[in-house]
Amino acid sequence: MKWNWRGVVATSAVCVSLSLAAQQVKPANAQLASPEIERRVNALLKQMTLEEKIGQLVQYNDMGQNVLPSADNKQVADNPDAKLGIDPLKLAGNGGIGSMLNIVGAQKTHIYQQAAMEKSRLHIPLLFGADVIHGYRTIYPVPLGLASTWDTALVRDLSAMSAAEATTGGIRWFYSPMVDVARDARWGRIVEGAGEDPYLGSAMARAYIDGYQGTNLGDTSHVAASVKHFAAYGAAEGGREYNTTDMSLSRMHQVYLPPYRAAVQEGAATMMSAFNSLNGVPSTANPYIMTDLLRKTWGFDGFVVSDYSAVMELTHHGVALTAADATKKALEAGVEVDMMSHYYDAELPTLVKSGKVPMSVVDEAVRRVLRVKFALGLFEHPYASGTEVTRALDEHRPLVRKAAEESFVLLKNDHDVLPLAANAKKIALIGPLANDGMQMIGSWGGANHKGDTITLKDAMEARASKSGATLTYAKGVEIKSTDESGFAAALDAARGADVVVMALGEDAMMSGEAGARAHLDLPGAQQQLMEQIAALGKPTVLVLFSGRPLVLTWAAKHVDAILQAWFPGTEAGNALANVLYGDASPSGRLTVSFPYTVGQEPLYYAQFPTGRPTGDADLSVPPGPNSRFLSRYIDAPNDALYPFGYGLSYTTFSFSDVKLSSDKLMLKDVQHAGHITATATVTNTGKRAGSEVVQCYVRNRGASMEQPMRELKGFRRVELAAGESKTVSFDLGFDELSFWNNEGKQVIEPTEYTVFVGGDSRADHQAMFHIVQ
Ligand code: BGC
Repeated sequence: MKWNWRGVVATSAVCVSLSLAAQQVKPANAQLASPEIERRVNALLKQMTLEEKIGQLVQYNDMGQNVLPSADNKQVADNPDAKLGIDPLKLAGNGGIGSMLNIVGAQKTHIYQQAAMEKSRLHIPLLFGADVIHGYRTIYPVPLGLASTWDTALVRDLSAMSAAEATTGGIRWFYSPMVDVARDARWGRIVEGAGEDPYLGSAMARAYIDGYQGTNLGDTSHVAASVKHFAAYGAAEGGREYNTTDMSLSRMHQVYLPPYRAAVQEGAATMMSAFNSLNGVPSTANPYIMTDLLRKTWGFDGFVVSDYSAVMELTHHGVALTAADATKKALEAGVEVDMMSHYYDAELPTLVKSGKVPMSVVDEAVRRVLRVKFALGLFEHPYASGTEVTRALDEHRPLVRKAAEESFVLLKNDHDVLPLAANAKKIALIGPLANDGMQMIGSWGGANHKGDTITLKDAMEARASKSGATLTYAKGVEIKSTDESGFAAALDAARGADVVVMALGEDAMMSGEAGARAHLDLPGAQQQLMEQIAALGKPTVLVLFSGRPLVLTWAAKHVDAILQAWFPGTEAGNALANVLYGDASPSGRLTVSFPYTVGQEPLYYAQFPTGRPTGDADLSVPPGPNSRFLSRYIDAPNDALYPFGYGLSYTTFSFSDVKLSSDKLMLKDVQHAGHITATATVTNTGKRAGSEVVQCYVRNRGASMEQPMRELKGFRRVELAAGESKTVSFDLGFDELSFWNNEGKQVIEPTEYTVFVGGDSRADHQAMFHIVQ
């Protein structure tokens, strides 16, 4: 279900603002809030014992409780149940469990579901959740790569495809999308989201939800989404995994919250609490975000699941002294389901019986869980449906191949080394990622089957054998190894070639959860290998696999072409070969800034101005461009090596000047859907067809709070034949022109706006307008 949200607007003389309380939105999802579902939920709730209610709030995997009693968690260590272990099958049969995670295969889910449906007193079905992040059996690019397509329709189609595959194994709940805005490439989980920008992140969030949930959650080929990790997990200090986040209310609302809110507005059925503390309060026990914001302000009707053992971790955070304390804090904050902590089942019976946790709180939590189960139609269709998908499906390969092709970002292409010339008869393919199918999948591989993935070597060999070219492959070095004994063979292969393709980068586990890095260089001896190959002076292409921006400063100077390939999925090799040989033109655009050096992190284009600028401010006024006393590093640039929005193609594009529908907008009109329309024409100035992502950025000056130098406020992906032009327009209204202040209010003021339209965040065509009273 979709609807247009603008909220209730309060006016004042100088600004228009939306207070938190005034931002009431419609119920998140009419499917969840239906009277028929409420009737069924209430009827069932009346029959449930306390133990059965608590059961609905408990989640285990098929090994049961696996949070090991640790020395620093006395409460768990002393808990007899933790020592005894948990038998999830038994729990399923006595109503002691409501959901399970990461169980693969229809046969397995059937066993547990049968216990719940046939043995438990009330026959309440289990909900099976899984980390299906970028495909179940047929895998598409990791989310950061997928975001680089800027193709929301494609993201929706892929999400629907993976839901259709996974539901045949009994899974009706995805722990996806991860919508955490991430601006620090050191954080490994940057790979799991859409990158650094809240506007793009919101668009992607909506696309995932649409694809997973469709218009009818009860359709057995759809799944409930779990939007994660609420909230602001991506702002972990220093990029270190699970670390603290701390920020102003303004930044939280303007940068980090929009994608979660967009997902809720799109009807997301569930959310997952984050591990991190936010402004001093762990998300899993944070009533401000879980209740005030999510439920009271955004109108969320679904339920929240904790992240893995996050309820238990409240004791590690030091905000709970005992398991009982942690349980009460998490549940009362609004975390309905305890994933793997073994706290709710162990502690809630006593807490409720002693009156420390009111029964009404438990009832409300159970109501939310049951609501989602009814909406999914689980009571009618508890088991996996359709023919089980056990391998990557041939009919899904074209879609995941297209996604991979669109995700590749061409960062550099000197002398038109790419596409590879038809007459390149001798090709050397070098590097540890050229023939490693497992790595092509990246972090969170769903239930992929190793043998289903096409490597770059597979695909290039197939082409070479058809065209009569020779392909010489040499691994050169292992991904993380410093053993250079394979260099000689690689250098030999390169010496005898017309062109060298190097497949280098990170392995899949170097990003993703617990994949934080303090260095952003190529691992092991890959840099040395690349330098020695480049020194041969052959035309050289670097195909780079990584789950984050790496430092490419050397490669940017010395290698002819760089294609950022992320982790492309099942069709990796075919998609790469199609782009390398020019059957498809690269059309990916970065959604994260690539730094010159790790010391620039966190790095993002939407920087705030300073009083000592080096950028596009008027440098003729003191302190002047040559002063030492400017906001900059003395040993590195401020800007990105490759900025947000950037990417080359095999053709070229030009942009016209930006035209605005007016040079002013009345403050009173902007609250009634008033807007300015910015228009620009993009032309394909090259000799072949290609796709461009037209991007619209806004800068607001003169407001009561400083605003970023640029913020993305619109984009369109357009396909253009050689010589073709298209005119693209962007409506800029309240949502695009307002900002969030430190009282958590969304405000708009009579100020000056500059609109930029172009092919990346450095777009220079611009026009100006004012909001006037
Ligand atoms: C991760 C989540 C994931 C969950 C279940 C956690 O460790 O942070 O993203 O959904 O595990 O596997």
